[in-house]
Amino acid sequence: MKATRDCTKPLSENKNLLKWVEKMGQLTKPDRVHWVDGSEEENQMLCDQMVDAGTFIKLNEEKWPGCYYARSDENDVARVEDRTYICSLSRDGAGPTNNWVDPFPMRKKLKELFNGCMRGRTMYVLPFSMGPVGSPMSQIGVQLTDSPYAVVNMRIMARIGTAVYREIDKGDKRVVPCMHTVGKPLADGEADVPWPCNWEKYIVHFPETREIWSYGSGYGGNALLGKKCFALRIASNMARDEGWMAEHMFIVGVENPQGEKTYVAGAFPSACGKTNFAMLVPPAGFEGWKVWTVGDDIAWIKPNEEGVLRAINPEAGFFGVAPGTSLKTNPNAMAALSRNTIFTNTALTPDGGVWWEGMTEEPPEECLDWKGNRWTPEIGRATGAKAAHPNSRFTAPASQCPTIDPDWENPNGVPISAFLFGGRRATGLPLVYQAFNWSAGVYMGATMGSETTAAAAGATGKVRRDPMAMLPFCGYHMGAYFRHWLRMQRSLQQTPRIFGVNWFRRGKDDRFMWPGFSENMRVLRWIVDRSHGRAFGRETPIGYMPRYEDIEWEGLEFARSQFEELQAFDREAWKQELLGHEELFIELHDQLPPEVIYERELLICRL
Ligand code: OXD
Ligand code: MN
Repeated sequence: MKATRDCTKPLSENKNLLKWVEKMGQLTKPDRVHWVDGSEEENQMLCDQMVDAGTFIKLNEEKWPGCYYARSDENDVARVEDRTYICSLSRDGAGPTNNWVDPFPMRKKLKELFNGCMRGRTMYVLPFSMGPVGSPMSQIGVQLTDSPYAVVNMRIMARIGTAVYREIDKGDKRVVPCMHTVGKPLADGEADVPWPCNWEKYIVHFPETREIWSYGSGYGGNALLGKKCFALRIASNMARDEGWMAEHMFIVGVENPQGEKTYVAGAFPSACGKTNFAMLVPPAGFEGWKVWTVGDDIAWIKPNEEGVLRAINPEAGFFGVAPGTSLKTNPNAMAALSRNTIFTNTALTPDGGVWWEGMTEEPPEECLDWKGNRWTPEIGRATGAKAAHPNSRFTAPASQCPTIDPDWENPNGVPISAFLFGGRRATGLPLVYQAFNWSAGVYMGATMGSETTAAAAGATGKVRRDPMAMLPFCGYHMGAYFRHWLRMQRSLQQTPRIFGVNWFRRGKDDRFMWPGFSENMRVLRWIVDRSHGRAFGRETPIGYMPRYEDIEWEGLEFARSQFEELQAFDREAWKQELLGHEELFIELHDQLPPEVIYERELLICRL
């Protein structure tokens, strides 16, 4: 299908935008400029064009309506944290947990890299709103990109196109400029490759001027700039300055049989089950309970005039990790991704479908793996090769999730009653405990640790401190970020309760002690009831914990002794844990708020 309009004609009258697009065009030298309107027709044209270019494979329309498949370059499969920079004016602004480079030489470097980087390609002007268009909690960006893959993914992940130009033309909201190139200009007559990218990658943020420059990658958070770059790294700076919070958190609404709804937001590090938790199906024994999904990855949270924290999901889609997602583990995600979805780096089945490890009990007899090689279960066993890359993803519209909350697009957000912090920890940390108060909760979040996963390039399975799951995403000094969390309490009339959870504790036999998934509802119910002051919590040195009798066990056989092992407070392990906290605190010492030091002292005393 051909677009009927002239795509080169600007769709905005905003002089600053027009001037910037012209200037960036002069720098990057694309063959043409395409103003994205976000329409169905345009989307189809881009998808068809990518099918012709070999970037996309159209999936079997009967089984996977409206779905496409992409295989990335083998060197472009995850976020590149070591190539991600926070270029604040001072090194101290970024803090020791971020890569900092002086903004002046970095700008010089980027100018060189971006000079002519779009030759032979189209530069797309992609306006997007993070959050519902027009919401007082939303923010606007414009991404200039030479990747049609980024455009069609962003169309799912954010609100894009005509309605956003109208917002920009009103002129009352700051627009975040986002430059993106795959970094592979084409010489005259040079044939393109299915997944253009560059060995050299730079994911650069200028917090003071609220700018993003991304070079060399077409994958996920490196290329869909509304997500990690804007909604977390830049937005965390905005939030600090303006008194709100930009967090790496899911948001769920828990409805009890009486119809009372309680919203909970939680931070788990990348690939630790936020998407599954956000779409939780209550287990047997929880008839009449519902869990509603507001968001699975990012929450923007702001106190309203009554001092209640209200949260929006700034995204419009799920960019979820595919492996492990199945009808058993997450039927709601499976429904959401059943149509109009883009799959990247999963396996491709002979009938034009997709597959990944954990999707079905029986693997397909044969498929093409994420590199395009023939894969069979025998080959997998013999070589250890996975059919799908461990960080393979689906990009699916949030509106297709059967449990999407009726209020998920409420411009004023939903009220938050509790925060959860959870990592992937084999030892030491109990299934659930509640922090004594806000500052103890901030300490809990600040000292979160988790075993690393495939969501970022690098080794997996090592415990790293990941405060509030924000280590790769906080766009300024982590110590100042803790201070901001502590200060937020002053603007609150209703302070959410804070809980630590760990679904991943292993027993002496090295097996997971907790079944997880739907059964997490039992923990969630205690959390909701605690938040309303309705459930008992036993005081321990680290916080309040449920007793066996405080958890609803109907529908699950789980012995008191098993639960006690799962909740066990291990004094020696906690002494080690405290030493682990210290590593991070030594790094952050010059900006560490006193409350964090006091909380640590109190914890030491209680131990
Ligand atoms: C993500 C991540 O993609 O955290 O959400 O890596
Ligand atoms: Mn994430």
